[in-house]
Amino acid sequence: MPFEAKPEGVVTPVLEPGYLSIRALRKEFDGFVALDDVSLDVRKGEIFALLGGSGSGKSTLLRCLGGFETPTRGSIELDGQRINDLPPYQRPINMMFQSYALFPHMSVEQNIAFGLKQDGLSRDAIGRRVGEMLELVQLGKLAKRKPHQLSGGQQQRVALARSLAKGPKLLLLDEPMGALDKKLRSQMQLELVNIIETSGVTCVMVTHDQEEAMTMATRIAVMDAGWIQQVGKPDEIYEQPANRFVAEFIGSVNLFDGVIDEDLPEYVTVRTPLFPAPIYVAHGITGYEGQPVAFALRPEKVMIGKDEPAGDTNKAQGVIEEIAYFGSHSVYHVRLPSGARVLSNFANSQRWASDGLTWGDSVWVHWRDNDGVVLTA
Ligand SMILES: Nc1ncnc2c1ncn2[C@@H]1O[C@H](COP(=O)(O)OP(=O)(O)OP(=O)(O)O)[C@@H](O)[C@H]1O
Ligand SMILES: [Mg+2]
Repeated sequence: MPFEAKPEGVVTPVLEPGYLSIRALRKEFDGFVALDDVSLDVRKGEIFALLGGSGSGKSTLLRCLGGFETPTRGSIELDGQRINDLPPYQRPINMMFQSYALFPHMSVEQNIAFGLKQDGLSRDAIGRRVGEMLELVQLGKLAKRKPHQLSGGQQQRVALARSLAKGPKLLLLDEPMGALDKKLRSQMQLELVNIIETSGVTCVMVTHDQEEAMTMATRIAVMDAGWIQQVGKPDEIYEQPANRFVAEFIGSVNLFDGVIDEDLPEYVTVRTPLFPAPIYVAHGITGYEGQPVAFALRPEKVMIGKDEPAGDTNKAQGVIEEIAYFGSHSVYHVRLPSGARVLSNFANSQRWASDGLTWGDSVWVHWRDNDGVVLTA
């Protein structure tokens, strides 16, 4: 990747222009707006996830890319070529469906060879390509089997090999793990990433499962009601949610409503009736005094203990109301005198830290000055 040195010596990567470039895409169904002004750039080789709740427009966007829906407005360019008006079979794109749609009467290798035969490739060329694909998905030993003689995960790999056989520029996956059980899902997530990365194909995938998006994707677009709420790397979406919707949609979060008390370059304070003192955040935002905001704090950033914390910011006393055990961690619900409830996660490897804490105990909650974010929307 080319690099450009900034004057102050900071080196930042120069972003490649979008390999897949979606501009102001709108899709209406009989006046119902399923996609509203969607613009996105996906880089070459990326695994890009569309994440959102049911009905948010993920599949509609994917189907517009594949050519199975016609956008009402907007443009889609792939590798510099406008593809809006091409029928699906003329687009250098392959879509793998949730059901895999394997041909039941054909063997694994016949399934993989199907598209290549249709393209009129020679026997030798087809044989070579099928061999490469079998190696890529590590199914060489099962080449002669029929789909019903394969496990769910193996069937998925066949479907993937068939999708990649013609060397598409873009691979579209709609809920690729939808047909698999939970344990197999997490194993296949990593395998799929491996295969996609090895093949070098650019991939846009749809999922409503945030863990899946976090595990698999280089970047994620969070969608709601036909809108893109935020685009970012998994850690950016988690640590710096752009608004309340994203903060609440991804993971669990403490949200406290308040107003800006002071906003200076080095810090911002948020006044809220929920806490005895204003919340102190160790960086400024672009806001004004009295502006309504929310303070978002992940439960794993909240420390609890019986002793009063040393610092004089971001601490409050409350009572443990509930403890939920999740195996790897426990969640403590602490009720403050204001009525506010603060969630605090404890990894159970740190049990010594929470030893002796139980229901009804009076405790302090506390977090560091840069552990939460101020949301203005
Ligand atoms: N052919 C259609 N005719 C009318 N409305 C449609 C059509 N296809 C989708 N919609 C509507 O557009 C909205 C977005 O649908 P879409 O299938 O893109 O959602 P999704 O994000 O994929 O949801 P899910 O997670 O449930 O699959 C929904 O409200 C849906 O009812
Ligand atoms: Mg869908």
